[in-house]
Amino acid sequence: MYSKETINRFRNPKFAGELKNANAIGEEGNIKCGDVMKMSLEIENDIIKDIKFQTYGCMAAIASSDVMCELAKGKHIDEAANITAKDIADKLGKLPPVKFHCSILGTHALKRAIEDYKNKSK
Ligand code: FES
Repeated sequence: MYSKETINRFRNPKFAGELKNANAIGEEGNIKCGDVMKMSLEIENDIIKDIKFQTYGCMAAIASSDVMCELAKGKHIDEAANITAKDIADKLGKLPPVKFHCSILGTHALKRAIEDYKNKSK
């Protein structure tokens, strides 16, 4: 059902945790399944220097969070905001159709974190 990549990411996520010096936080949840994701980011001059996630959720949500962080790290915030759920699913190899919504959580959490950063920078 899951790709090797998804299983490996779930077992050994590289970006799990919380950044102590985060200057942007984004949270997103899914009402239907109850899964919740929180992203903490360290952004400097609009570049995502570091990023970590905390996800209470299914295997696909945790693996997707990890991929989301990998794709976003080092990117300009405008570029990172354009990462799609399909980009995440492609990187995971394959997600069962019923699990596609899990990859959307990460993109929403990241967008919220970027909004948070922009609001604080005003
Ligand atoms: Fe809800 Fe995966 S089942 S995020």
